[in-house]
Amino acid sequence: MTIVPPTTSASTIPRAAQALARCQELARFSEDPDSLRRTFLSPPIRDCHKAISAWLKPLNVTTTIDPAGNLRALYPAATSGAPRLLIGSHLDTVPNAGTYDGPLGVVLAVALLEELRAQNLYLSFAVELVAFSEEEGVRFGAPFLGSRALIGALDDNLLDRRDADGISVREAIQNFGLDPAQLPAAQLDPESVLGYVEFHIEQGPILDHLGLPLAAVEAIVGQSRLSITFTGVANHAGTTPMDARRDPLAAAAAWMVAVENEAAGTPGLVATVGVISVQPGAANVIPREARLTLDIRHQSDAVRSDSLQALTTRAQEIAARRNLSLNIATLLDQPSVAMDPFLTTQIESAMRSAGCSPHRMASGAGHDAMVLAQRVPSAMIFLRTPGGISHDPAESVLPEDVARAIDCGVHLLKQLAASPEFLQSAVARSLSQRKNSPRA
Ligand code: HGY
Ligand code: MN
Ligand code: MN
Repeated sequence: MTIVPPTTSASTIPRAAQALARCQELARFSEDPDSLRRTFLSPPIRDCHKAISAWLKPLNVTTTIDPAGNLRALYPAATSGAPRLLIGSHLDTVPNAGTYDGPLGVVLAVALLEELRAQNLYLSFAVELVAFSEEEGVRFGAPFLGSRALIGALDDNLLDRRDADGISVREAIQNFGLDPAQLPAAQLDPESVLGYVEFHIEQGPILDHLGLPLAAVEAIVGQSRLSITFTGVANHAGTTPMDARRDPLAAAAAWMVAVENEAAGTPGLVATVGVISVQPGAANVIPREARLTLDIRHQSDAVRSDSLQALTTRAQEIAARRNLSLNIATLLDQPSVAMDPFLTTQIESAMRSAGCSPHRMASGAGHDAMVLAQRVPSAMIFLRTPGGISHDPAESVLPEDVARAIDCGVHLLKQLAASPEFLQSAVARSLSQRKNSPRA
């Protein structure tokens, strides 16, 4: 029995149930038979595009797939030529994923467009739904491919990255039936974009512990992702004395303990070795190579950088002592990003109107909003994650929180549409950027 808060409007409850059902429908589109995995421009992404386009069809919005595989749908403003607000999230997932990380933000954007249409509301700005093609970085090791295309940052270095089958990002785009040469067409024109708002599950335990349904995100922590390779000499496990070995896996193990100690000893730092691969990988062979990933995050870029330096030095010491070679490649170095203060304040007042006590927090997870924030004012609304479980099939969300999120979203759109400051922001921003940018 879902206890519905008194402030939730009558139309929102069925919309919330529909949003959850749609997340479950999208979760059926997977590359794996018994679990959810959906990576950059894999066939299940096309299934998602078809489902979302069908949901949007009754709204008569213009739905396109941009050259980076992002689904884009424009709900018009009351007057043509008006600027637009983007609302969305990502469609790709991690392996063995939960149902809501990413897709919930997309189906909530659909629900808001449906609510506008149901109230026959056309605002002083258009609303563009964006379903990003790739945020997690699973297939090519580099995240945010979809949102980077919107800010013109999907460069050749990224387009040339290859997946485990040797297919490049560029070829994956072509294989999906899109043209990488057209990528510039995916870019935003910041002068016509008022901002970006993303609904997303918190993916952590804080709102659940506080007993709160929603939060306004004030910052997204900075993160670095690296690939670390120790290389030694493969040899026979039975005949090689312990003092004659150059064993990269033993080195990797020693370094992983150092990673855990560095994070445990640095307040607010999280560091994770999520992938380890060993060559040749046989029980009776001392490995030749051990390749690991490091994901390290902190709200302060300085603290993250200091810890990263300490761990790099430690890896070099371990490799030198064991007579191994070491290669460290940076896959991502994403600074901590503050969310837009004006939008965040507007979100808090929309939360109050939806009957929720406003709560601000930082995001430990990375999101497309941290990429969009490099070009346009960006903000996020978190929904409670029961048990704080995410990146796992046990990931869940409460129907009443989804109803509140929709209510909050409708209040937010109406507030922003009635705000001269907001409507002026794109023009003012572009003027100030023109004034500050050096003369060509
Ligand atoms: O890993 C993250 O921070 C997010 O789930 N992409
Ligand atoms: Mn994720
Ligand atoms: Mn996500």
